[in-house]
Amino acid sequence: MPIPTSLFDLTGTTALVTGGASGIGLAIAEAFVMHGGRVLVGSRTVEKVHDAVDKLNRLETPRLHDETEPVAAGVALDVEDEKSVDHAVKKAIDVFGGLHVAVNSAGIMHKVDTFDLEPDKMNQLYNIHVTGALRVAKAAGHVFREQHGGQVINICSISSFVDLTGVTAYAAAKNALLGLTRSLANEWAKYGIRCNGIAPGFIPTDINRQMIEGTDRGRRILEHTPMARFGTADEIAGAAVYLASPAGKFVNGHTIVVDGGYLASGIGDSVAPWVEGA
Ligand SMILES: NC(=O)c1ccc[n+]([C@@H]2O[C@H](COP(=O)([O-])OP(=O)(O)OC[C@H]3O[C@@H](n4cnc5c(N)ncnc54)[C@H](OP(=O)(O)O)[C@@H]3O)[C@@H](O)[C@H]2O)c1
Repeated sequence: MPIPTSLFDLTGTTALVTGGASGIGLAIAEAFVMHGGRVLVGSRTVEKVHDAVDKLNRLETPRLHDETEPVAAGVALDVEDEKSVDHAVKKAIDVFGGLHVAVNSAGIMHKVDTFDLEPDKMNQLYNIHVTGALRVAKAAGHVFREQHGGQVINICSISSFVDLTGVTAYAAAKNALLGLTRSLANEWAKYGIRCNGIAPGFIPTDINRQMIEGTDRGRRILEHTPMARFGTADEIAGAAVYLASPAGKFVNGHTIVVDGGYLASGIGDSVAPWVEGA
């Protein structure tokens, strides 16, 4: 089979990006649009969604979209609520006429000593990161199965692979999300559905800025990152474009680590959790 001339072309591809109004989700939405795709971004804060859609529709894309057709739309979305998720998938189809990719980027963080971790909080993190991703995967999966094609991309974490101090609920949820990614890839391939993950390293965004920027913890992380810097959200987006584009069409069940070498260094940031400020 000849190699396509535009390996990373997303023309004709429509994506739903949860948590798509900020940070990594927004960067992925932006990259999709810049590669010819169309995106529906959703999160709970409607003002943020509105601003993101505005930004995305103002992007100067290298491709010639029909000027009357927006490349982005928004939806109020809470992945903890099944009806809200179903509505978002329906909206993607109503607005863009189809859906090909669902990116699960919605997430929250909770840092606390594990003795003080409340089961309700644990459940909330699981409900957003794992059950929320499942809700989105199922709602989009019905569409994908019908058309025998589509992909779920889960934003996992390096805490899917190694321990990160004081974020037990988050790490447990991200481990489970890695497992969900593999299970869906295995079970749904027969429907033409792929499922992959991306595991970002440390990217200062709203979710973790206070924890890692200018802190002892941040300094230790940088010491254990071979590239000696944090990443940026746009450096994660390339992996999503790769997975969604023709270049990634035989990739299934994998989670791509984009972390400046942190995992390769073989040292988690919890080697000495008793150090002050850990
Ligand atoms: N930044 C990092 O270093 C890093 C590393 C590894 C993995 N990740 C993962 O990357 C993903 C994106 O995080 P980020 O760094 O881009 O942080 P972020 O800017 O805070 O993005 C997270 C987004 O999720 C949305 N969200 C939270 N709960 C939601 C819910 N119930 N329903 C729908 N949307 C919800 C938030 O918006 P609303 O509050 O408006 O709902 C927010 O826009 C997360 O899954 C995170 O765990 C981040």
